[in-house]
Amino acid sequence: MKTPKKIILFYFSGTGNARQISLWISEFASKSDIDCRLFDISKTQINELLPIDPESLIIFISPVHGFNYPKITLNFISHFPKGKNNIVLMNTRAGMRIGRWVTPGLTGTAFLFSSFLLKRKGYTITGQIPFDMPSNWISIHPALREKSVKFLHEKNYSRVKKHADKIFAGKKDFLAYRDLFQDILISPVSLGYYLAGRFAFAKSFYANTHCDNCGLCIKQCPVQAIKMVNNRPFWTIHCESCMKCMNTCPKKAIETAHGLFFGLYFLSSSVITYLFYLLFADYIQPGFIRLLLFTIVFMALLLILYRIQHIVLKNKFIGKLISFTSLTNYKFWGRYKSIPDSGWKK
Ligand SMILES: Cc1cc2nc3c(=O)[nH]c(=O)nc-3n(C[C@H](O)[C@H](O)[C@H](O)COP(=O)(O)O)c2cc1C
Ligand code: SF4
Ligand code: SF4
Repeated sequence: MKTPKKIILFYFSGTGNARQISLWISEFASKSDIDCRLFDISKTQINELLPIDPESLIIFISPVHGFNYPKITLNFISHFPKGKNNIVLMNTRAGMRIGRWVTPGLTGTAFLFSSFLLKRKGYTITGQIPFDMPSNWISIHPALREKSVKFLHEKNYSRVKKHADKIFAGKKDFLAYRDLFQDILISPVSLGYYLAGRFAFAKSFYANTHCDNCGLCIKQCPVQAIKMVNNRPFWTIHCESCMKCMNTCPKKAIETAHGLFFGLYFLSSSVITYLFYLLFADYIQPGFIRLLLFTIVFMALLLILYRIQHIVLKNKFIGKLISFTSLTNYKFWGRYKSIPDSGWKK
């Protein structure tokens, strides 16, 4: 493989991790006299870039969502024109810190599926590299503490340098093969997330009583998933849960409706248990049908209750009650955004 003279780098980023990796690659490329151009997938029309220079190395960097690339990245890749370039796929995953160690996230089918799409278009995949940046999924866990965030940025900076050097030297880099077994094992969950889970998470957000209708979340959403309904942001099913809005709202007014989700879980489980009691004998437990029915009932109830929640949020007292059941409402939970180099470099 030849040393690349030019790099075209496409990235998608919700809370800045993938963007940060892109900036570091660009920094190392310019130190190696390689021309590196960065494009934000959410702002790029692929037609504007045509024709793509056949000599350039192409890099894609995107977070992993539900053990796959998010839909916006997959759409971009599936509409990418045919070509013969070398391509390196990178991702940012949910890294955590235990002492001096960085625990890895899970890539799932992100590299396998997009490599398949790109190979069919004629490209050669020359690398698949995951980076374990701080997890931004604060709907399911509290934000990492500042010290851990800085630690993970520092660690990843040197990891990016190591892998960039390898790529710039014209070598292949398939670090992701290390996790191949677990990535294949987890693939059914990635399918479940793509077909159902992401729609449920899209409906987990709401704006609490501190929202002042500034409209910033609507303006900044990379997939235009928020509408203003009755003077309150309303999350549509198109939301990709990238976490950008929640982590940039100046009023910290965007919450995850944990209370609604727990209530719905018990309600849907009860409905399904009752249905099975009516329809099937005790010894028949068709697991797949149960899961399918549960998903349908859960999603139907969620769509209805989300609308109702949106209406009743107008009432300050009910609004406060709903916030009370949202873990994101408590100070210790925090918010997450990737930090610039000036925030951690000594
Ligand atoms: C909805 C959602 C799903 C996620 N799923 C995964 C996952 O399957 N595996 C993983 O390692 N990290 C997962 N994460 C964590 C992010 O991929 C990770 O924090 C990433 O570095 C965020 O990058 P960004 O700041 O560029 O958006 C998920 C995050 C969100 C918000
Ligand atoms: S950014 Fe925050 S305060 Fe502004 S409209 Fe959205 S939720 Fe409301
Ligand atoms: S609504 Fe928020 S979480 Fe959903 S895609 Fe838009 S910015 Fe991301």
